[in-house]
Amino acid sequence: MGAMRPGSQILGTGAYAPERVLTNRDLEKMVDTSDEWIRERTGIGERRIAADGEAASDLALRAAQRALEAAGVLPTDLDMIIVGTISPDHPMPACAAYLQRKLGASQIPSFDVSAACAGFLYGLSIGDQFVRTGALKRVLVVGVELLSRILNWKDRATCVLFGDGAGAVVLGPADDDGRGVLSTKLHTDASLTDSLYIPAGGSRERLTAEGIAAQRDKVVMVGSDIFKIAVKNLTGASRAALEAAGMAPDSVKWVVPHQANLRIIANVAQRLDIPLERFVLNIERYGNTSSASIPIALDEAVRDGRIQKGDTVLMCALGAGISWGSALVRM
Ligand code: ACO
Repeated sequence: MGAMRPGSQILGTGAYAPERVLTNRDLEKMVDTSDEWIRERTGIGERRIAADGEAASDLALRAAQRALEAAGVLPTDLDMIIVGTISPDHPMPACAAYLQRKLGASQIPSFDVSAACAGFLYGLSIGDQFVRTGALKRVLVVGVELLSRILNWKDRATCVLFGDGAGAVVLGPADDDGRGVLSTKLHTDASLTDSLYIPAGGSRERLTAEGIAAQRDKVVMVGSDIFKIAVKNLTGASRAALEAAGMAPDSVKWVVPHQANLRIIANVAQRLDIPLERFVLNIERYGNTSSASIPIALDEAVRDGRIQKGDTVLMCALGAGISWGSALVRM
């Protein structure tokens, strides 16, 4: 590998999940499903659901405060806030604006990125670019989702899959010791927009009383379409991130994948020829928290000591868009 210009480095991680737990058994009482079906098909056992008064910026705040504390960075030291989310407090302004105010950060650029489950990796890559060029020194990247608010709780094909949560990292300039963000890859394939989307509430279809009654403001997904493409694209993006850094799968200590479906992850592990034991998994406890899933899993593995300083960590995610990406980071 040639001498690479030092980019950004993860200075600290943090996460927060709401207290309320919704188990598969609870869901059995709500829709025609079973604990066995959900576990076998997805690996999910339970998920967290935000309290009535909680909004995205409330969850994001807790995760961000923990990441800032771990990084030893004050909110007033931040140069930018990027929030990956498709469930912001309001359609406008950005969740990041509310987060800026709650953190007490300065008048720094604060914006949301809409890339669904890939939102955190999009944010990480954008933040990395600003730090890599030397333009900025401290960037907060958050993934937060309250998917419980945009699910059709009568649709068993979607409502059993998702959960609420938030995760965050603080990026700063990498030291000259080989640690930091080594490579990132981002993609969108718009041929599958109709396989995973929210029909109404945007400028295409106004939200009407009929639309609300028909749950057209909620997530619609053709899961089997997404499954196949997820395995293929997550494998491809992971390989590309490794190639860009001139590294082999062997050198990856931990993979932190988006937690959408354990079978997707197992298929990717097999194709990458990286044992599933080296994957950080928490889908059993949180379900799919969309943009929050990677930073929550990353934070858990950092805090319980699995991920150590100097470890090479591969991250990959795919969601609506279809947007997907990967990042290779030496912690
Ligand atoms: N409980 C019981 N049965 C169910 C349920 C349920 N919760 N959901 C669906 N079924 C039934 C279906 O009706 C179907 O029945 P049929 O055979 O009689 O028609 C059967 O189970 C099989 O359904 P499939 O959809 O083919 O099941 P599959 O094995 O594909 O699993 C799943 C479905 C879990 C959704 C899977 O396709 C998946 O994980 N897809 C990828 C999801 C993803 O990664 N999304 C991207 C991220 S999300 C984001 O960006 C916001």
